[in-house]
Amino acid sequence: MSSKNIVDEGDLILLVFDEKRRWLVKVEKDKEFHTHKGVIKLNDVIGKTYGSSVKSSTGAKFRVFKPLPRDYILKMRRITQIIYPKDIGLILLYSGIGPGWKVVEAGTGSGALTVVLAYYVRPDGHIYTYEVREEFQKLAIKNIKNAALEKYVTFKLKDISEGIDERNVDAVILDMATPWLVVPHAYEALKEGGSFVSYSPTIEQVQKTVFSLLKTGFFDIITIECFTRRILVREGKTRPATSMISHTGYLTFARKIT
Ligand SMILES: C[S@@+](CC[C@H](N)C(=O)[O-])C[C@H]1O[C@@H](n2cnc3c(N)ncnc32)[C@H](O)[C@@H]1O
Repeated sequence: MSSKNIVDEGDLILLVFDEKRRWLVKVEKDKEFHTHKGVIKLNDVIGKTYGSSVKSSTGAKFRVFKPLPRDYILKMRRITQIIYPKDIGLILLYSGIGPGWKVVEAGTGSGALTVVLAYYVRPDGHIYTYEVREEFQKLAIKNIKNAALEKYVTFKLKDISEGIDERNVDAVILDMATPWLVVPHAYEALKEGGSFVSYSPTIEQVQKTVFSLLKTGFFDIITIECFTRRILVREGKTRPATSMISHTGYLTFARKIT
């Protein structure tokens, strides 16, 4: 995920045939990528400009794109539920996360949120991510390495409800079953005015977390939910898609006060 615009050996690219058929592919010299529309020689991709196209052995045309954070997290391997782009977008905006931020996160899970956080705190920020299950942490480490973002992340195999090691952090973000147990530790770890975020699938989790935030010394507490609906734009028959994801999770935001 760098800013150069020419495909190099070792890059991870997004190869797109159409809306449904798209793959994350590592560009390795002398290797081939097999699709139902023929074989693509990866040597043919090296040196191409992102946005250009490459032809397969059957003459089918594939577009070559730089994967956006959204493409990456939707295509990477996952063994846990992940936070979806619509919710991550709000997490970034409502917490203020940006370059140089020091962020604590739990649980790491498959690392989808970790990838996006690491991408946005570059070049001087850092993510400290806590996870209790080693097999999840291992996969998350692989996913972050594939995205070439590992230097921005410290992985911790630790139960965050036993305490947070870092201090003076800009944000604490929780996606785990019992966020309310972490609220006092988040208060200790955050700098004054720092951002707290919790993502929970159920209302019961939200209530426990909000009551704990009120008791602990947080302010500006809000809980929101986000729906997105795809619009199908067609000549003379533009309308919303008939199905949509109705529920993922509730987002709670708060600021530390003294
Ligand atoms: C839904 S997953 C997180 C997914 C992640 N946000 C993503 O986007 O890929 C929840 C994770 O929290 C971890 N977890 C639960 N309780 C924890 C705790 N007390 N400390 C650290 N991790 C915890 C679980 O093992 C699980 O991997």
